[in-house]
Parts: sequence; structure tokens; C-alpha cells
Amino acid sequence: MAFETVGVVGLGTMGAGIAEVFARAGLRVIGVEADAEALARGRGHVERSTARAADRGKLTAGQRAEILGRITLTTSREDLREVDLVIEAIPEVLDHKVSLFQDLDRICKPETVLATNTSSLPVTAVAAATGRPGRVIGMHFFNPAPVMRLVEVVSTVVTAPGVTAEISELAGRLGKTAVSVGDRAGFVVNRLLLPYLNHAAVLLELGIATRDGIDDAMRLGVGLPMGPFALLDLIGLDTAYEVMEVLFDETRDRRHAPSPLLRELVTAGLLGRKSGHGFYGPQ
Ligand code: CAA
Repeated sequence: MAFETVGVVGLGTMGAGIAEVFARAGLRVIGVEADAEALARGRGHVERSTARAADRGKLTAGQRAEILGRITLTTSREDLREVDLVIEAIPEVLDHKVSLFQDLDRICKPETVLATNTSSLPVTAVAAATGRPGRVIGMHFFNPAPVMRLVEVVSTVVTAPGVTAEISELAGRLGKTAVSVGDRAGFVVNRLLLPYLNHAAVLLELGIATRDGIDDAMRLGVGLPMGPFALLDLIGLDTAYEVMEVLFDETRDRRHAPSPLLRELVTAGLLGRKSGHGFYGPQ
């Protein structure tokens, strides 16, 4: 299938970044949000990100205008009737995702592939809620989406092999490398990364080192671009906490128990960059 027009539902940090990735690759994008305010926030994300690239000389003003011109914004899901692919990037609440996929299944033409960017919820559960489970797949991008070069392509037991192949090929068209993974909590990256980040919060709580000490240790000693607390602030503490809860639920492995400190910060609304304050802040 030639993917030419793509719908992105949910234009938060990830959805807006994903919309930009598709528009940069020359595809037409229809971005959907719940209301005008959320739509304006989504537009702001893409405008700032492309302005930054233009300031750094990575895009000309003309290319930036072309990218923005390929993105249409709407509050109506019905506008997704003719798209070839939809990527869902709404908050990680399974009931909301299931009901969205039921809607998309009704609205979109039968060939449309329905993809979720979920980082922790079962793709199988949303696939089973539709009348086209073979054409439902996970397409998991990483934050910041325009920069990170991986897409985890999550196939369920009922995903048609041809769809997995098409979506992997599409990831290549976006300049990303696709890694094919099964539908298990955390897939590959979050299954390995989040326990490490969670453990950093445990070490902090035990007083083994300071926040800055732990971040410096992992940046300078291991060569990572960011220490664990800077990365938790980028990912969002709420997202990290949700992934840990799902990992713990599925594995019942004590090492996956969410850190109490993480839970306390999330409860207090200190979510990282998205709320302006997390392990670091105000930011
Ligand atoms: N949007 C678009 N572009 C961005 C960006 C953003 N939010 N943030 C940075 N960039 C671009 C910059 O424009 C710059 O581009 P050029 O090289 O073309 O000029 C490039 O990225 C590097 O940016 P900076 O020089 O400002 O900053 P940096 O070198 O410190 O890199 C970083 C920033 C890319 C975020 C880097 O620190 C990094 O790779 N951090 C680790 C990020 C990571 O691990 N992400 C995965 C999180 S896990 C996840 O997302 C899964 C999940 O489900 C929870």
C-alpha cells in the first residue's frame, strides 16, 4: 500500500512530533485533537520545533512552510475517512483507546491501517475491539520523535504479516530504523530502559548519591546523552510511572515495582518538562 495521507490523533508532545516526522517525509497529515485549545497547543509544538530547525540552518524558510502546509488540523475524527494510516497518540488510558479505535474502524476506509503509539498498553486489546484486527499494529516512536531514529513495530498474533512489512518499510521512508517486536509490556526499549530509570529514583531515595551526582555518573561514566533524571523529566514522570505499573503487573518481578518517590512526584503534579517541574525545575 502507498501511504500518502496519514491521520494523527492526539497532538501532545509525541503526537505533534509524529505529525512533524510524517510531514517532513512528504506525506500529508491530518492532525486531530479534542478541542480548539488542544489543537492550538499541537500547532504550537510543530511551529516551535520547525522554527528551531530553521534557526539552526537545518531547514529553509520555504521547506518549513512546506512542512507546515502539509499538516491540516481538525477537531473532527470524521475527517479521517480517506487516510491510508492513522497513528493514535492520546493519553495512556485503555478504555479511551478502545473507544477511539472503534470509532476509527467505523470512520476509515477498510484498507486503512490503524496504529497506536502506546508505550505500555496491549496492542492486542485495541486490535480486538475493531473489525479489522489484521490491520491494527503498534508504531512506537521515541521522544523527541523528530530526532530519535527508532520505531518499534509491534505485531500481535493477528496482525497480517504484510501489514508489519509495510509499516516497517514506511518507518524507513521516515528516516527511522524499524525493529519488529511482540506485544509484551514495554516492548524492548521500555522493558530495558524504564527499570533502569526507576532504579535511579530508588538510589536517590536511599541517599546513595544526589540527583546531579547520579546524572553526571551515567552521562560521563557511560556516555549517555542524558542522565536518568533529565531523561525522566523529558519522558514525563507520569508516563514513566504508568510504564512501570504495567511492567510490574505483567511480570510480578519485584525489580519492576514503581519507586515510591516517582509516585509521590506524580501525585504532586511534578511531571517533568510537560508541567515545568520534575526532578529538575522549575524548567
Ligand atoms: N524536537 C525536535 N528536534 C529536537 C528536539 C525536539 N524536542 N530536541 C532536540 N532536537 C534536535 C535539535 O534541533 C538538534 O538538531 P540538529 O542536530 O539537526 O541541529 C538535535 O536534536 C540535538 O539537539 P540539542 O543540540 O539541542 O541537544 P542535545 O544534543 O543535548 O540532544 C536530545 C537532545 C536529542 C534530547 C539528546 O539529549 C538525547 O538523545 N537524549 C536521550 C533521549 C532519549 O533517550 N529518548 C528516548 C526516551 S524513551 C521514550 O521516548 C519511550 C517511551 O515510550 C517513554
